[in-house]
Amino acid sequence: MDSMHEIARTAIDQTPPACRVTAEHAAVIATNANALVAWGPQIAMGFYDTLYGHVPTATIFHEGERPMREQTLIGWWERTVRGPIDDDYWAWMAMVGLTHVVRRVTNPMMLAMADYVAEYVSINSYRLQLPEADRIRLVEGFDRVASMTRSIITYGYDHAMSAALYERAGMPEALLARLGDQTIREALVDAKSELGL
Ligand code: HEM
Repeated sequence: MDSMHEIARTAIDQTPPACRVTAEHAAVIATNANALVAWGPQIAMGFYDTLYGHVPTATIFHEGERPMREQTLIGWWERTVRGPIDDDYWAWMAMVGLTHVVRRVTNPMMLAMADYVAEYVSINSYRLQLPEADRIRLVEGFDRVASMTRSIITYGYDHAMSAALYERAGMPEALLARLGDQTIREALVDAKSELGL
């Protein structure tokens, strides 16, 4: 298994630079950090109301776990808005991603909730009373944070699965990729007939 820094770096290298968090995004987030930190408890409440309100996500949690989960989300939010959003931050996101894999939190669940946070910022950004250009940059900044987090989490998931197959069953990544290609090519033939294409 690669290190968390390697996982994050590989995922980021695969995303076009035009889709990444820039110094300007980081600066507008940092300037508003105190006001944003104060949103933490509201974000955590809405986040977990959403997860507990849906059976497949609610069943991930152990009895009585919610207060602890809200606290870790508030901590994540504070670390995110205070910055720095640097290589160590992205390596931490790779680790946070794998923490969820072990609890059987799926990529669809993770990706949807990364969107949840970005959307919360977008809807509530007017509360910061910023000049419009700064407000737009801030909203875009959180979209980019969510997008890069999604890239790292999904890449980390794929990497963890292929590393497990290699380390536990001796299947090299290249062979796994070839077998995957073959299976997907066959599935695409069925998919075309399913969709009448
Ligand atoms: C982008 C979205 C998410 C973020 C940023 C996030 C953030 C975090 C963080 C920072 C931790 C603490 C990790 C640690 O202790 O090292 C954590 C733990 C956890 N999260 Fe999330 N989370 C997200 C989505 C989800 C979703 C969708 C679920 C469930 C459906 C979930 C369930 C959990 C659980 C069960 C743990 C405890 C893991 C353990 O056993 O240590 N999270 N989350």
